[in-house]
Amino acid sequence: MDNRAIGVFDSGLGGLTAVRQIRSILPSENIIYFGDTSRVPYGGRSREILLKYARQDVHFLRSFDIKAIVIACGTVSSNALTELQAENDLPMLGVVEPACRRAVKMTRNRRVGMIATAASVRSGAYAETIRRLDSGVEVISKACPLFVPLVENGRYQPGDIVVETVAREYLEPLKEAGIDVLILGCTHYPLLTDVIAEIMGPEVELIDTGAEAAWELKRTLKARDLLSEDREGQASFYASDRPDDFSTLASRFLRQDMPAVREVDIERY
Ligand code: DGL
Repeated sequence: MDNRAIGVFDSGLGGLTAVRQIRSILPSENIIYFGDTSRVPYGGRSREILLKYARQDVHFLRSFDIKAIVIACGTVSSNALTELQAENDLPMLGVVEPACRRAVKMTRNRRVGMIATAASVRSGAYAETIRRLDSGVEVISKACPLFVPLVENGRYQPGDIVVETVAREYLEPLKEAGIDVLILGCTHYPLLTDVIAEIMGPEVELIDTGAEAAWELKRTLKARDLLSEDREGQASFYASDRPDDFSTLASRFLRQDMPAVREVDIERY
């Protein structure tokens, strides 16, 4: 048993999709969340810059007494997981592998779609992981660079003509390709679930990377005897810019009143 907190980070709001699931399946755990809102979006950056940002994010989270880190960011998981794992002596979980495992399990026609940021698609991490798990599954990947700025600006509701137009343009080729599973390879994208599901139709299963990572976290903590005692877990939130805006959007998404979001000067880490 271990009552220390779990650190979770992303470039902004996206990682809250993992937080929501962690709180539902591991309600006794304390969570410390960091959203790097001063440098969002990460998805167009080079691997070198992503590694620099991710190291700072991890360094900040490790200024607390934490027992594990969830990289609730497809872009960092695709580009920097190996380095971060090698540099840190605590469980460090990414979102790519759990989502790919689920996709391989769910697909019936062995045609899997994957949407993510440009940096994630460029890394090839999702496609390579699926190929390693099952070389007979075909992966059709597509970068959707406008989704993250739309979500960060609160434009993710069905009926929003801007996000619906953008989504149709990105998703129609995947629909035509006949996929039956679509990995939402960026943790921001589950906020667009209703919009995406409407376009893809009920026959396409959507995979929420943050949610799959939360299940992986539960398995990891259990296997290492790191689960917390039975109690009500607390979450605290930090952002590197505009904490009030983060708080407004986060409370809408998590459907709860947020504790004050504190501002962090991430360049100090
Ligand atoms: N939510 C992150 C991801 O999963 C980052 C997106 C971004 O900042 O571009 O990729």
